[in-house]
Amino acid sequence: MEKFEIHGGRRLNGTIKISGAKNAAVAIIPAVILSDGICRIENLPDINDVVAIAQILKKMGASVKRIDKTTLEIDSKGIRNPVADYDLVRHMRASSYLMGALLGQFHRAEVALPGGCDFGVRPVDQHLKGFGILGAKHTVEGGMIKINADSLVGDHVYLDVVSVGATVNIMLAAVKAKGRTTIENAAKEPHIVDLANFLNSMGADVRGAGTDVIKINGVDFLRGTTYSIIPDQIEAGTYMAAAASAGGDVTLLNVIPKHLESITAKLREMGVSVEENDESVRVVCSDRLKRCNVKTMPHPGFPTDMQPQIAALLATANGTSIIHEAVWDNRFKYVEELRRMGAEINVDGKIAVVEGVDRLKGAPVKATDLRAGAAMIVAALGAEGVTYVEDITHIDRGYEHVVEKLTGVGADIKRIFTNDNVTNTA
Ligand code: UD1
Repeated sequence: MEKFEIHGGRRLNGTIKISGAKNAAVAIIPAVILSDGICRIENLPDINDVVAIAQILKKMGASVKRIDKTTLEIDSKGIRNPVADYDLVRHMRASSYLMGALLGQFHRAEVALPGGCDFGVRPVDQHLKGFGILGAKHTVEGGMIKINADSLVGDHVYLDVVSVGATVNIMLAAVKAKGRTTIENAAKEPHIVDLANFLNSMGADVRGAGTDVIKINGVDFLRGTTYSIIPDQIEAGTYMAAAASAGGDVTLLNVIPKHLESITAKLREMGVSVEENDESVRVVCSDRLKRCNVKTMPHPGFPTDMQPQIAALLATANGTSIIHEAVWDNRFKYVEELRRMGAEINVDGKIAVVEGVDRLKGAPVKATDLRAGAAMIVAALGAEGVTYVEDITHIDRGYEHVVEKLTGVGADIKRIFTNDNVTNTA
């Protein structure tokens, strides 16, 4: 079993280069299925979720060539049967994007019900509602969603909840549909805009991404393209939180500061200095953090995917903070782990009340999901003593070279392999 061993209390100094955005990558790779040419995708993060989604395409018959660590060249012409492998797909939420991409290209898709991080019910009713409005029918058999359409015809789709996944899936199903599809109450996340830019670079006609009305005029053909993925907003936010937790002076390179605005605003409220430059942000922190309240919301609100990391910071802030998780039903599972480190946090439904303590103390903890794992690292970097983080496969799904990036700025973190009672370091 692999764990992280983290010795807290070291200030962080230096630069960290942010990788390409996971959530853009896992939408854009399936979108290649819609292309009638060869696509070269650059600035991909070197993470397990990207490997997994590329592998799913390969198993379906696509040719996937690794050009270098961050670039894949994908030719999806070899995909004949629009059925996604059950074992790979069911562990990954983003595999649901195969539904929209396969439906858009083949008018047929068979995909296992998606998995991914467990923070409550993760329905796909809005995705299916959108497909239905475009003319598709679906059934669920043996854990697989089977979707069919004689033809796809654009229409108005109003989303009852702002859903990133449904917005992506309906865009994918609509780019080659007949006529115009209008998605109302669409998600506005940076990776929605990135997906639209990718589709348009192949000749699609998608307008309004980044606003809550997206208009898609269907086209018959999508050419190959070369496209570079945007930097990862949440990876950057996580390292901003790491710098605030440990203290120090850290500059994050390859970021889009505008995507970080809600995170920057909260850190500033907590007394952290954040300097924005064209493609970098500098985070300086030397004093005890101040309390603040946080409510998660769809973009441009504070991202739910930064909620656990901000809780790790508020755990030692001066005063009482309230966190309102307004996106997911059950995203406070990690609180029990922070309590092992001495945090005083009480959860009631979607609200957590955080009483800041002077210092957290190292303890054995678990990464209960991807961002919860990131929160354990953030907490451990500022804590007294040693923290062991278990179940780090969750973290490897979404963070590229986390140990190397953090040791590069002076953190004491290593990956250790444990076998029964023997512990080896590597
Ligand atoms: C994406 C992100 C995830 C992030 C989330 C919210 C990816 C791969 N994952 O997940 O990291 O936490 O956005 O920013 O990009 N909902 C419905 N019906 C649906 C779909 C969603 O009720 O058909 C609800 C969900 O239960 C949730 C809310 O809508 O309460 C937002 O979910 P959604 O934006 O769809 O999240 P994901 O796309 O799964």
